[in-house]
Amino acid sequence: MRRKLVVANWKMHGNLASNKELLSAYIEKLTSITTIDVVVCVPYPYLSQVQAMLQNTSIAWGAQNLSKDAVGAFTGEVSASMLKDFGVSYVIIGHSERATAYCESDENIAMKFMQAKTHGLTPILCVGETLIEREAGVMQMVVGKQLDTIINTYGASVFGDAVVSYEPIWAIGTGLAASAEQAQSMHEFIRGKVAAQDKVAANSLKILYGGSVTPRNAVQLMVTQDIDGGLIGRCSLNAQEFEGICLAAG
Ligand code: 13P
Repeated sequence: MRRKLVVANWKMHGNLASNKELLSAYIEKLTSITTIDVVVCVPYPYLSQVQAMLQNTSIAWGAQNLSKDAVGAFTGEVSASMLKDFGVSYVIIGHSERATAYCESDENIAMKFMQAKTHGLTPILCVGETLIEREAGVMQMVVGKQLDTIINTYGASVFGDAVVSYEPIWAIGTGLAASAEQAQSMHEFIRGKVAAQDKVAANSLKILYGGSVTPRNAVQLMVTQDIDGGLIGRCSLNAQEFEGICLAAG
């Protein structure tokens, strides 16, 4: 039985004062939930703040990106070992908001995935299709290709103890979440694709759903067989709503 994982993605929100308030509310509301793992992914400058506030709690923290390179002359980049300095254990990779705006290729994303793995960070790899791709019925082909780049380069075993988050682009920030059936069907496809090459890795792989998750729709999504938790944007900025989602998963 895979333990459920709920991840807050604050995206580019917050400041020192509002983070302090939100993290205090997280500690108050979430640390008593012991049946799931909870992670909060914050902008780089606030990693030391979350480290200081969460280090003796059950809530882990993560970053929203990392460099594909280990070290060197890469202005503005942040390496896996730098994240480790701040107690980071998870890192979001290939979020569609980055992949489109900053032209991240599948090859770059695969390299970032391996940077995380080799430094002992758990990668949260985001995959998902656009609305046009879903309407054309090619969503599995699109998501399959996103996974293939990693599988073909490094082998399916790298998905062992990793996290994939299925985030249909049409569901992110739109209020239009995928139905439990739509999500289950894609999650099953993702697990099956990894299982075809490595059953052990596929079993330990956590597959999250992300895209307009609320405390209301979380109830149905989180009881679905291949949904191992959620990656939460907007509702993670409100401690009460985030608590509602964690309780639905717990
Ligand atoms: P929303 O929950 O705001 O739709 O964002 C989802 C997301 O992008 C999480 O990474």
